[in-house]
Amino acid sequence: MLRGLIWGILPNLSRRTGPWYSLNPKAAKRERFLSAKLLMASSTFICDTQPWKDLKAHVEDIKKTHLRDLMNDHERCKSMMLEFDGLDLDYSRQCANEHTMEKLFTLAEAAHLKQKINSMFNGEHINSTEDRPVLHVALRASRDEVICTDGKNVVPEVWKVLDKIRDFSDRIRSGSWVGATGKTLKDVIAVGIGGSYLGPLFVHTALQTNPEAAQCAKGRQLRFLANVDPIDAAKSISGFNPETTLVVVVSKTFTTAETMLNARTLREWITAALGPQAVAKHMVAVSTNLLLVEKFGIDPNNAFAFWDWVGGRYSVCSAVGVLPLSLQYGFSVVEKFLKGANSIDRHFHSAPFEKNIPVLLGLLSVWNSTFLGYPARAILPYSQALEKFAPHIQQVSMESNGKGVSIDGVPLPFEAGEIDFGEPGTNGQHSFYQLIHQGRVVPCDFIGVVKSQQSVYLKGEIVSNHDELMSNFFAQPDALAYGKTPEQLRSEKVPEHLIPHKTFSGNRPSFCLLLPFLNAYNIGQLLAIYEHRIAVEGFIWGINSFDQWGVELGKSLASQVRKQLNASRTKGEAIEGFNFSTMALLTKYLEAKSP
Ligand code: F6P
Repeated sequence: MLRGLIWGILPNLSRRTGPWYSLNPKAAKRERFLSAKLLMASSTFICDTQPWKDLKAHVEDIKKTHLRDLMNDHERCKSMMLEFDGLDLDYSRQCANEHTMEKLFTLAEAAHLKQKINSMFNGEHINSTEDRPVLHVALRASRDEVICTDGKNVVPEVWKVLDKIRDFSDRIRSGSWVGATGKTLKDVIAVGIGGSYLGPLFVHTALQTNPEAAQCAKGRQLRFLANVDPIDAAKSISGFNPETTLVVVVSKTFTTAETMLNARTLREWITAALGPQAVAKHMVAVSTNLLLVEKFGIDPNNAFAFWDWVGGRYSVCSAVGVLPLSLQYGFSVVEKFLKGANSIDRHFHSAPFEKNIPVLLGLLSVWNSTFLGYPARAILPYSQALEKFAPHIQQVSMESNGKGVSIDGVPLPFEAGEIDFGEPGTNGQHSFYQLIHQGRVVPCDFIGVVKSQQSVYLKGEIVSNHDELMSNFFAQPDALAYGKTPEQLRSEKVPEHLIPHKTFSGNRPSFCLLLPFLNAYNIGQLLAIYEHRIAVEGFIWGINSFDQWGVELGKSLASQVRKQLNASRTKGEAIEGFNFSTMALLTKYLEAKSP
């Protein structure tokens, strides 16, 4: 009741009053914090609402019908297929019927999903623990779109940076910007970790085999350096010449220990070969912290900004991804990627829930994990070019929704978040599919591509290589859904003692998402679908999907260990302040390894 009132009043209030609090910045901050908190807050948990309880009760109903029987209802299947902008989503292999869908839409209403989506697009400070808006959608807005936060349209700033990237990458690629010894910079190492790495790596891996993009990248190499393991640094420079290499240091905060050490390591590699003045020509940065960029020794003119309203894991469409990818493929290819993401943003913002791909995926994911009790999700692209998609989504999903408290900070009485993992098909089939067919139930996302990036048809084969791949894409969801009964096995004369081993229970849910092709545009679409799907889940669970306090504790403990290692090695100081186990391990490590 109270929440309904708040939802009803707040949008009107903010429209009518405008930013009155801008007169007093402190009051403004507090006001923003409170209003976002109120907007996102759940005065009761979503699990206390009637729609949640109805869904709980509905679980028993749906369990009575096997998926193979649900699949016999053609009208149902037809209603669970959706086409948008060249993409096809088939969710008929979900353990759900029309009643499930109705109840999920009612739950979405109870969770104020529509208002929360609008709050995100309206630039409200929905990341309340950091008092920030969440505006990655502005990164791919077209020039004429208006996306405001705190009374300011951010789209012109976004395009200012994009234009700077276009200009810089054109100069590097054309050879008008050269290195310290006058040579063209044909190789790029992007140094960054987590959100400053995984998204760009996924997109790069997907574009690498696209004929149009590959043509644009001819003669150039893009590598990533993420892990602080010295092996990764050695690999990143192996075969590269500092004279022809540009290093892009990518860090939102410019404080991340691993990235900064790797950046110093590559700075040393460059200056040892070319002298300290070479940094100006061979190192650039992407960050929100331009002061620290300058302190590091990178010319602020060679820094590409983004904003604190872009979460690290949502930053691939900022300079974090756009700069390295433009250097490799040219800005016009990357612009298509942004356009693909923008197409999904508009769809997500405006399509009715029954026809809204991220909303349907998000609601059914909540259904699978929270109500049916399947906590994991397998991401299975039948495309080798998408081999880095699951690692990227692992971060987006698990860092976003791996939370134990509600947005108000109250412990959740239910589990939020999902365990994401995946591998491209068919490789995964020879790895963990045994478990998903006969062991635990793991809802699967099958992602297929209609037209391959490569066309191979060997003489004498009955299908092309891509058809072979796709035969598996089409077969696996049905194998999971239908299973195989003992009766079927008996009719095949399978010996009785093997029947339990060869039986497949089936009734295992999956989505099929079919992309027409794998080009920059479709890759952008795919990215945005998953980003929004994950937001939908967080909105329903009533958590803050946009902070990540859970990564802090390990970082601060590592800093204590770092200090100890330094003190022991340089001053021979005894190990102290750790528990018995860590002390014993540290002693072994220090005894065995010379620095
Ligand atoms: O440790 C997790 C994290 O904070 C991520 O959220 C972020 O993407 C990553 O580290 C890198 O942070 P930065 O871009 O500030 O170096």
